[in-house]
Amino acid sequence: MTGTLVPSINPDVDKPRMRKRGIVLTGRLENRSIIVTGAGNGIGQATARILAREGARLLLVDKDKQAVALTAESLQQAGGDARAFAADVTDEDAVAGFTAAALESFGAIDGLFANAGIGGAVIPFAERTEAEFRSVIDVNLIGVFLSLRHVLPVMYSAGRGSIVCTGSIGSARGLPLTAAYNASKHAVLGLVRTVASEAGPHGVRINAVLPGMVDTQMLRTTTTVLAPGVDPALGVQEAGKSVSPIGRAARPEEVGEVAAFLLSDAASYVHGAGIPVDGGALATMGNRP
Ligand SMILES: NC(=O)c1ccc[n+]([C@@H]2O[C@H](COP(=O)([O-])OP(=O)(O)OC[C@H]3O[C@@H](n4cnc5c(N)ncnc54)[C@H](O)[C@@H]3O)[C@@H](O)[C@H]2O)c1
Repeated sequence: MTGTLVPSINPDVDKPRMRKRGIVLTGRLENRSIIVTGAGNGIGQATARILAREGARLLLVDKDKQAVALTAESLQQAGGDARAFAADVTDEDAVAGFTAAALESFGAIDGLFANAGIGGAVIPFAERTEAEFRSVIDVNLIGVFLSLRHVLPVMYSAGRGSIVCTGSIGSARGLPLTAAYNASKHAVLGLVRTVASEAGPHGVRINAVLPGMVDTQMLRTTTTVLAPGVDPALGVQEAGKSVSPIGRAARPEEVGEVAAFLLSDAASYVHGAGIPVDGGALATMGNRP
């Protein structure tokens, strides 16, 4: 088994302290145990904070050991229940490792946010190499497949669970210069729809969030390639403006709120869906004045 459980400072939930530190508990996910992959940065990190606010017990996974340890530490210091696990989602032993660690820590796995992903090269299709294409598919598709493959049987035996995968507006459109990424995200949505058809009878729901332009390091890196010399923070907002009638990029929390809803019982009849969190991009692309 590879991957490591990073030691916790304070794994016990301390609700008064959470309130004091500004985390307002609403308890929609009280005592639900949830795995979040890609939790060291960006959307995964922001979602982890929201899930902690909702009372969830978290196993945070990332291949960046330091980043995931810091995320868990900040939630623990705010009184949340979060453990860090360093693992690469493309490594099946590591995925088995975090699944086992979640079960051992919490006795159940109620939720999975399969969110870890990479952007890949921003280049024309004709310049793409097989190695680069495979590396993106490996993380964005095989990583999600492995996470589902290991967590679903646990949920099936419990007869309950909710899974959210991170797709993209690239799950639904052929956007230029990102063939590997878009192909992987189309596949993630295909996986979600297919698993939905099988998982429902087992009491397990699965959905995807389809973010548009979100201000994270991933998009900042992409915009640096597309607009060299432009301040990446500004580049991200410009990218947001170019696709969303709201006229800006999303904050990672805006995706996290939707993921938290889908993981909760409030979404009890939402299943097999790809929910755009894109400021209206998919609805209006190509139609705006
Ligand atoms: N930022 C956007 O505009 C945007 C838009 C649509 C979809 N998404 C998707 O959202 C998800 C999160 O992206 P983000 O924008 O927060 O990016 P990010 O780079 O800020 O965070 C991604 C995290 O995933 C981790 N990670 C990458 N490969 C991993 C692996 N093999 N195993 C374990 N962890 C790994 C990274 O270390 C990082 O902490 C991705 O699936 C991405 O494709 C992002």
